[in-house]
Amino acid sequence: MELTSEQQAILDGAKGEYLAKCVRWLVQWGDVMGAERLIKCDNTHALLPVPNLMARNASKDTMDLYMADLKEACQHRTAEGCYCTVHAAFITTEDVDVPENDPEQVAMHNELADLAADAGFIPTFTCAPYLVGNVPVKGEVCAWTESSAVVYANTILGARTTRHGTESAIAASLLGLVPEFGVLLDENRKGTVHIEVSADLTHSTDWGALGYFAGKIAGLGIPVFNGCRRPSQDEAKQLCAALATSGGVTLAHIAGVTPEAPTLEAAFHDDVPEESIPFDNDTLQAQYDALRNITGDEIDACVLGCPHASIREIAEFAHLLNGKKVADGVDLWIDTAKGTKGNADAMGYTRTIEEAGGRILTDTCPTNMRIPYKRIITHGFKQAHYSRGMIECESIIAKTEACVRSAIAGRWLGD
Ligand code: F3S
Repeated sequence: MELTSEQQAILDGAKGEYLAKCVRWLVQWGDVMGAERLIKCDNTHALLPVPNLMARNASKDTMDLYMADLKEACQHRTAEGCYCTVHAAFITTEDVDVPENDPEQVAMHNELADLAADAGFIPTFTCAPYLVGNVPVKGEVCAWTESSAVVYANTILGARTTRHGTESAIAASLLGLVPEFGVLLDENRKGTVHIEVSADLTHSTDWGALGYFAGKIAGLGIPVFNGCRRPSQDEAKQLCAALATSGGVTLAHIAGVTPEAPTLEAAFHDDVPEESIPFDNDTLQAQYDALRNITGDEIDACVLGCPHASIREIAEFAHLLNGKKVADGVDLWIDTAKGTKGNADAMGYTRTIEEAGGRILTDTCPTNMRIPYKRIITHGFKQAHYSRGMIECESIIAKTEACVRSAIAGRWLGD
């Protein structure tokens, strides 16, 4: 990779050992991916949280080294002009009575959050930074962690980010640089799979079903959706999360919606494939059926807000819960960012939800926290998919209204 003299100097240690390491990370990654240069990056969403149960079997030495590295990163300022936010955590600073929210880890989390804020990171602790202020504009070069947010930034906002991990996003935040490869380049943003949508997408979870289907088909490719209407923000959130759950999608095009894809032809750079894959009502139903194989009807958790809920979703949850009571033995969690919960508190939604026995969980989600449930119901395809592996529970995917009805009944009532 060709470096400028300034980049080379940092690599040679002109700004200290840690920043030299950051350049080395980006150069080594870029070399592997075929990048020819490092380019300016204006916006990052970095993963800085305390690893907690994510590193279940890690030794104390490994954890200490990891924490020492994160703390050292926070001894530096984020690059000038770079808008840097922080990804969701594995614990919450809310006072929740589950043993997975270990006080020692909460203290470490708070220490790290303060250090990150001093370094210039905005400690949003969310998987949906675009709901709490980090909204890059079309063409803005970003370095984002969180696969669902990466797809959202590329597909809905028209920003440009490859999929980042902890080290690369920290390096990008401190240097304001990223290796130029993948979807940062025009030629790599051309659609690869044409999906013709005829299904009736009436609920945001239906859009999750579309993404779950397309992710399996596209793998690492770029699906192009044609024939569907414009999704709302919450529908787009579900679509993008599911695309990155069943597949490794970084970017998709919705013809007529994605900023650079006003037409099907534009999405394929004027090279539309002859074949298309249909997504009809039967295919839609099959996605639900795939995440409903359960051995009983009782549920012990209802998880709403994956990715983290918008204020509009919280208003809807509050409306559905108003005057009702969640069944004994069922935890109803609404996952969101602290900033959004602040709005919900001010608007009275939190009170309505808590009076019904629900709880708003900030910074994280039950799957990230590894709360060991037996059977959960959720409206998010991502949560339904990952909870099966990460907490080894059974999961039921359902639309919001059905989730809430089941949480009140304490068992899966069907659609
Ligand atoms: Fe966010 Fe947890 Fe879903 S971190 S994307 S709510 S799995």
